[in-house]
Amino acid sequence: MDLEREYLLQNYARYPLVLARGKGCYTYDLEGRRYLDFITGIGVNALGHAHPRIVKVIREQAGLLIHSSNLYYHQYQGPLAERLSAMSGLARAFFGNTGTEAMEGGLKMVRAHGHAISPEKFEVIALENSFHGRTFGALSITGQAKYRQDFEPLVPGARFVPVNDLEALEAAFSDRTAGIVLEMIQGEGGIFPLTPQFVAKARELADRFDALLVADEIQCGVGRTGAYFAYQRTNHVILPDVMVTAKPLACGIPLGVIMANERAAAAIKPGMHGSTFGGGPLACRVALEFCEILDELLPQIQRVGGYFHVQLNELARKHSFVKEVRGFGLMIGVDLNIPGKQLVLDAMAEGLLINCTHDTVLRCLPPYIVTEKEVDQAVKILAKLFNKVK
Ligand SMILES: Cc1ncc(COP(=O)(O)O)c(C=O)c1O
Repeated sequence: MDLEREYLLQNYARYPLVLARGKGCYTYDLEGRRYLDFITGIGVNALGHAHPRIVKVIREQAGLLIHSSNLYYHQYQGPLAERLSAMSGLARAFFGNTGTEAMEGGLKMVRAHGHAISPEKFEVIALENSFHGRTFGALSITGQAKYRQDFEPLVPGARFVPVNDLEALEAAFSDRTAGIVLEMIQGEGGIFPLTPQFVAKARELADRFDALLVADEIQCGVGRTGAYFAYQRTNHVILPDVMVTAKPLACGIPLGVIMANERAAAAIKPGMHGSTFGGGPLACRVALEFCEILDELLPQIQRVGGYFHVQLNELARKHSFVKEVRGFGLMIGVDLNIPGKQLVLDAMAEGLLINCTHDTVLRCLPPYIVTEKEVDQAVKILAKLFNKVK
């Protein structure tokens, strides 16, 4: 901690906890104290810690080939693209390393799509309260001034619309619109789901104005809500043209992906985009293994996620400072009318890791392997803490 204070950029406000190892749903600090991990490295450690199948493929692949660059083929990028295409309903993949990098590529696709139609067609509609990443493009369409203000001027062309406001959405579209970017459930913004009507309207308007609909599934995607992707959660699936995702895909090995239908993919021609590290053999092989395991876990995510919601709603009923429990599957926010930060610290002291987003929302992103037993433990700790709130 002292070395970090002396040598690191002081951009992170870390919790005072040094993690050393993990097993299943639990992680341990340097002194061996155990924590129930209900934040999973912000949704990355989706299979918990040290999952035996993931450890096995990492060990094997590390001894064979970790990196090859995109100058050459390797065995795993093609099969992973095929797999993600089947899961997402989108034809083609591009692999990068992080969420924000995937978002940048998605935005380049939107720009190139617009550019091919008219130089005036470069606007991107995004939502207020959204979060899409920290690089310039992603930041430009992030609908929270606190992230943007120190870096302006940003990439031009962003237009922000309030969440679930159909009229504002319609008013924002024009022939200048090249794309619209949506998180089906806003994550950093406080776990706010979009209504199906709003998503349907975005699809209709994107079609009418020849713009691309981009789903940012970096936090809500790849199983988190109990569906492969959050846009598939309801019976009436509204397919985006482009989908970006990252966090849990390779269980902690950095991997991000852009999935695109043929129309959107056609905007990117040879030489227009690339990544040195993106889609390496280690990351892709781990992601393939993760997808196999995910198939077995989807019913459990739905069942345990539902159970967690019910338990939290029961707790909410007993405490007037809890405004609402929101989210789907294992992506849950408990919105309070008091600041959440102290509760997060108190939970940590009780052996439960969660975090707070948007100042008042306790955010839980448990691992997909979680069962009712761990949910009971977490709810018991929260109940104890809630009882102490004055
Ligand atoms: C919805 C969403 N988009 C983009 C990002 C940025 O991803 P990364 O931190 O991997 O760059 C995040 C990260 O929290 C996110 O939640």
